[in-house]
Amino acid sequence: MSHYKLAPSILAADYANFESELKRLEATGVEYIHIDVMDGHFVPNISFGADVVAAMRPHSKLVFDCHLMVSNPEHHIESFARAGADILTIHAEATQHIHGALQKIKAAGMKAGVVINPGTPIASIAHVLNLADQVLIMTVNPGFGGQAYIPEMAEKIAELAQLRDEKGLQFDIEVDGGIDNQTIHSAREAGANVFVAGSYLFRGDLDTNVQILKVALHD
Ligand code: DX5
Ligand code: ZN
Repeated sequence: MSHYKLAPSILAADYANFESELKRLEATGVEYIHIDVMDGHFVPNISFGADVVAAMRPHSKLVFDCHLMVSNPEHHIESFARAGADILTIHAEATQHIHGALQKIKAAGMKAGVVINPGTPIASIAHVLNLADQVLIMTVNPGFGGQAYIPEMAEKIAELAQLRDEKGLQFDIEVDGGIDNQTIHSAREAGANVFVAGSYLFRGDLDTNVQILKVALHD
């Protein structure tokens, strides 16, 4: 089985029909559902919170990959655990206590992810990598779907992959923002293995677009 995973972002789906959107995504054979939680404070936009995730949970067996773009994410760990999140990924920039917050995510029974914005260096998370099941490298500035992939992030992904090997760690490397049938190659070659895609997948035929990205990962 491939270690590559696709994580469609529900942010680009039809919000009035999450149940049918989840079924439609599941039928395409993707591995994760990427759920973007925005608080209007850490990022300028507001999306949805743990109650919406809880409402979606009975309608999908896929891995719920929750990306919290919220200030003080440590205040929301228990509510996302109760809502049925499988992976909880929090921004290093959003808390003064990233180490403790990652420990709390694991203690709550979820996989722990840490994410950094395009301007944040890998060095800022070097000492928490041992706690991470997943490290997310933002390839856009977070807040909105439909933005352009920042090509300079490939160097950062490669730096992270090298550090992971040096430390003998196993975490997944996820990328998020502007992933399409072109940019996915740059991210993969740099060392990413989990690919979030929103606007690319939902523009046109979802199933066709998923298959195009799957082919891109296997050619
Ligand atoms: C951006 C979000 C992304 C977004 C990706 O803040 O974290 O997950 O949904 O959307 P696209 O693929 O359109 O860049
Ligand atoms: Zn995201």
